[in-house]
Amino acid sequence: MPSNQPQTIYLSDYKVPAYLVDTADLRFELFEDGARVHSTLAFRRNPDCQENQETGAPLQLHGDSLKLESLVLNGEAVAPSNYNVSDELLTVNQVPQHFTLQVVTWIEPQNNTRLEGLYKSAAMFCTQCEAEGFRCITYFPDRPDVMARFSTRIEADKTAYPVLLSNGNPVEQGDLSDGRHFVTWEDPFPKPAYLFALVAGDLLEKQDSFTTMSGRKVDLRMYVEPRNSEKCEYALDSLKRAMAWDEQTYGREYDLDIFMIVAVDDFNMGAMENKGLNIFNSSCVLASQETATDMAFERIESIVAHEYFHNWSGNRVTCRDWFQLSLKEGFTVFRDTQFSGDMGSATVKRIESATVLRTAQFAEDAGPMAHSVRPASYMEITNFYTLTIYVKGAEVVRMIHTLLGPDLFRKGSDLYFERHDGQAVTTDDFVKAMEDASGRDLGQFRLWYEQAGTPQLAISDEYDESAGVYHLHVKQTLPDTPGQTDKQPQHIPFALGLLGSRGEALALALSADELASGDAPQERVLELTEASHSFEFHGLSERPVSSLLRHFSAPVRVSYSWTREQLLFLMNHDSDGFNRWDAGQRLAIDVIQQMIGAPKDVTVDARLVGAFRHLISDADLDQALVAKMLVLPTVAYLAELTDGADVPAIHRARRRVLKHLAIALRDELVACYRRNIDSGPYQLGPEAVARRSLRNTALAWLLLINDEEGRSLGLGQYRDADNMTDRMGALKAFVNSGYDDDRAATLNDFYQTFQHDPQVVEQWFSVQAASRRTGQLSHIHALLEHPAFDWKNPNKIRAVIGAFAGQNLVNFHNPDGSGYQFLADQVCKLDDSNPQIAARLVSPLTRWRKFAPEYSQQMQAALMQIRDKENLSGDLYEVVYKSLA
Ligand code: PHE
Ligand code: ZN
Repeated sequence: MPSNQPQTIYLSDYKVPAYLVDTADLRFELFEDGARVHSTLAFRRNPDCQENQETGAPLQLHGDSLKLESLVLNGEAVAPSNYNVSDELLTVNQVPQHFTLQVVTWIEPQNNTRLEGLYKSAAMFCTQCEAEGFRCITYFPDRPDVMARFSTRIEADKTAYPVLLSNGNPVEQGDLSDGRHFVTWEDPFPKPAYLFALVAGDLLEKQDSFTTMSGRKVDLRMYVEPRNSEKCEYALDSLKRAMAWDEQTYGREYDLDIFMIVAVDDFNMGAMENKGLNIFNSSCVLASQETATDMAFERIESIVAHEYFHNWSGNRVTCRDWFQLSLKEGFTVFRDTQFSGDMGSATVKRIESATVLRTAQFAEDAGPMAHSVRPASYMEITNFYTLTIYVKGAEVVRMIHTLLGPDLFRKGSDLYFERHDGQAVTTDDFVKAMEDASGRDLGQFRLWYEQAGTPQLAISDEYDESAGVYHLHVKQTLPDTPGQTDKQPQHIPFALGLLGSRGEALALALSADELASGDAPQERVLELTEASHSFEFHGLSERPVSSLLRHFSAPVRVSYSWTREQLLFLMNHDSDGFNRWDAGQRLAIDVIQQMIGAPKDVTVDARLVGAFRHLISDADLDQALVAKMLVLPTVAYLAELTDGADVPAIHRARRRVLKHLAIALRDELVACYRRNIDSGPYQLGPEAVARRSLRNTALAWLLLINDEEGRSLGLGQYRDADNMTDRMGALKAFVNSGYDDDRAATLNDFYQTFQHDPQVVEQWFSVQAASRRTGQLSHIHALLEHPAFDWKNPNKIRAVIGAFAGQNLVNFHNPDGSGYQFLADQVCKLDDSNPQIAARLVSPLTRWRKFAPEYSQQMQAALMQIRDKENLSGDLYEVVYKSLA
């Protein structure tokens, strides 16, 4: 057992902090060989800490990789006998009731490859403090329930670092000797240290403004490296839309005079909601027509909104402890998906959310790292920034919204913000506010926060012709997860519709009386609370077709024995767009699964071909929905649905179906392509996005079957594209095609054209790493040797190693085990420089139990190899040990 085995931290051990910090006044001296941090902290005993009131507890401050230069208490140096410094803590044994502590630390941002705390990204200084990065800057009670008012003075060379930023408002600035200068910032809102931020660099400033609902003018500023000057507009526009939307939808107004966004190239995550100074991964904020795909634009809009929304859901009301992470993340993801739905198509957004959830979150919830939305324990909190916390957490909030309805939900959120403004609270406080505002009992509903695993609904039905009654039976089970067995039934909102034989919506009358009243609705949200329920629907003259779990009203798996005829029927007639899409997915899954290992003479069901022909040809259908319906379920999702999965076999079956469709629909695809060519200028609206998506799907299918007309359309599109969606669409189609020369030529041209743009080079890496054809191991190794690859840059690492292991499933699961071995080697290498990234990248291996034995054994062996690495980080330790357990 390695010596650095991390401690497990339990929610049940939570204790209020012994000391509170009223003010934190920081002074940073930034140099090329390091930084000196002067911190002046005003402490007092916490009146809510019984123990400390009675006896006077020692003061314990967190610290990590710090050099302590001086320690002064109430103006006097602390005697060596009165304090102690370990790797993780600074302890001062005797302290008074109130005191001021002055701490000076020396740190080395230029050598910080973990990208936690203060570090350098290219020539700029920046910070990342969530979750526990502030302790890498100075000694501090680094926990979210300690909230202080911060002031920050930054001193640096004026030529190299003309821009000096921190949270709040700038209050003073001036020149110093030796060509240095300073700026002082004050943040009037008390905040936990994880929301602290600092940026220093030679940055270009873009200005905009927003007038709030009460008429206050807020300065909006975006700071980027000068070469990115033309890539700021979309983020600033998104920000203004988000600010207006949060006022309208939640009554939330921005609270400082200035709001800043900074783009940095080296960043572990997507973005960070630091108070008044949001810091973004460049790839999640910079965009122009020529360099960003439609998907990237969509992502930027939602992340900019997400970080902005945190100003209330996260900053004004924050988390008591990190077990409550979903309090801010689940709620904020819910808010940003609502926003995106309102900005574009709510149905399309719902399809995208459900896809992530069903493909990746369900897999996480069925794997060795499964945890509840409010976990009960963790070793390394950075491993808990998971899909469960974020997207399942958002689903849980969404279910509250469904159960309460929009008006009561809004009453609940108003109460929550009002009651807890300025506080650090728990998910339970959130649910309580919803209960108090609505009068609803959410007691059983709270199990969604406590029990891990994806509920499974087994559904059956029968029709009683003589009585005209349709019976629907729903059984609910919740699988065991690590450390949790014998779970209780959860409270599940289950939206249902019934269709008649002409596709018409039928009334859902739960009793003869309701039928007689004539008031029965055409859609109902049934509330499941028991292990099993039976519902009766009256007044039905024929057997209806059920539309189950409409708009994916709960994050659950549904099993029901649909016939293919029923699925085709729902695809065509369901008034719920989500379920039309879902029926198409289920039909395709059924057809593909039938093809796995099937003999050559088994053909693809002609009804699937017919359904796709209809989708491709009928221009009157909602084209945005059609664009989604044409995307076959991914190999990742098909594998998730399979026990003992054989990925290469799944991949072959899926390809067989895809090729069959492409050959059968060849003429329709060409027609669809031509119909969707844009003549006018580039636009970003949902209609234009749908056209590009349809056209690029058609192109990809045509190139998959080596169609010569497709080839010339593709070459033309690549050459003439005035936007990245079309250029990348064509490039991707060639990369995945059998046209070897065209593939090489377009890849080469693309790199030559965009080599100076890191965001585009990332896309160039990942399109290759994710491809069956260019993503064989020898190519992946070549990409790692490419001059543009950078082991210190998380985006490049994700673009190559992450895309290979996460998206190129057929090569990753090479039966010879080479893909697993490769990932293990890279993870071990990365662990020494950036353990957070290493622990994230290893995740495809942790799912080893899902796969057929010849695969799972080799995956397990790769994990063991990582386990035995020298100096295994705590981050990787937790993931590897839990997945081998
Ligand atoms: N809190 C950030 C967000 O979701 C994510 C993040 C976590 C960023 C940890 C950096 C470090 O908005
Ligand atoms: Zn967030």
